[in-house]
Amino acid sequence: MGLYRGVKSMSKLKLLSMSRFPHHRSGPSHILPRNRQSGLVLIIFLLGVAALLPAPVAEAAPQDKARWDRKYQTEDYIFGKDPIPFLKEVSDLLPKRGQALDLAAGEGRNAVFLATLGLDITAIDISEEGLKKAKALARERGVSIKTIAADLESYRLPAKTYDVIVCTYYLQRDLIPKMKAALKPGGMIVMETYTQDHHKYRPRFPQDYLLKPNELLKWFDDFVILRYQLVDDGQAVYASILAQKPG
Ligand SMILES: C[S@@+](CC[C@H](N)C(=O)[O-])C[C@H]1O[C@@H](n2cnc3c(N)ncnc32)[C@H](O)[C@@H]1O
Repeated sequence: MGLYRGVKSMSKLKLLSMSRFPHHRSGPSHILPRNRQSGLVLIIFLLGVAALLPAPVAEAAPQDKARWDRKYQTEDYIFGKDPIPFLKEVSDLLPKRGQALDLAAGEGRNAVFLATLGLDITAIDISEEGLKKAKALARERGVSIKTIAADLESYRLPAKTYDVIVCTYYLQRDLIPKMKAALKPGGMIVMETYTQDHHKYRPRFPQDYLLKPNELLKWFDDFVILRYQLVDDGQAVYASILAQKPG
């Protein structure tokens, strides 16, 4: 999950202050020897180029990728091999054919389940290690899934393409309108993640990555809400939603 987005904003800040440096002209470059002057010009040029690059994502994504790749480098499935219970519970309401997408799919527990329902599923995640395990799980269950290793902060979702989109335990708020646009009319979305009340079990969990009260419901107020639940199971507090794009 984008727990490290705090780190990303720090890099953004760092970059911002670096990009200001080329405009800072009070330095005594005119009194430096010629070779030091050209060195300085080169540094200023490179800083200028760095400021033009979309560096914050490019700089931070490898940190997320490395962190999740490390977590997934174990034979165990850290999130288990079975789908989240909510997905199983609402599966009767989902279409059984068509294109489906699992965003931040991890080791593929939900993607593989959707494939067993008959959906043609693409699992996207930043971690190649996670996706390798997702493929292995699909083989084990006798189905196939497509995987794409990508950073969802920059990845573009095609419009009106999917019948089902699933995203669990990954909260990137600017992805919500993109997910809604990527659904076909009548398409369904399943989301689940922790709410602010989860703090009582995990006080250090970054606040930004917890759902505010009714936040899921508000995001999908232009969809038909087919199922919604708020759960406190004694270890975690989370909200789940199944919502349908108007046809
Ligand atoms: C808590 S895990 C949830 C995995 C899966 N959805 C599940 O419920 O089993 C969060 C996932 O988000 C992925 N992730 C984190 N940052 C990402 C990014 N910028 N782009 C794509 N995936 C990302 C991680 O690799 C990890 O697999």
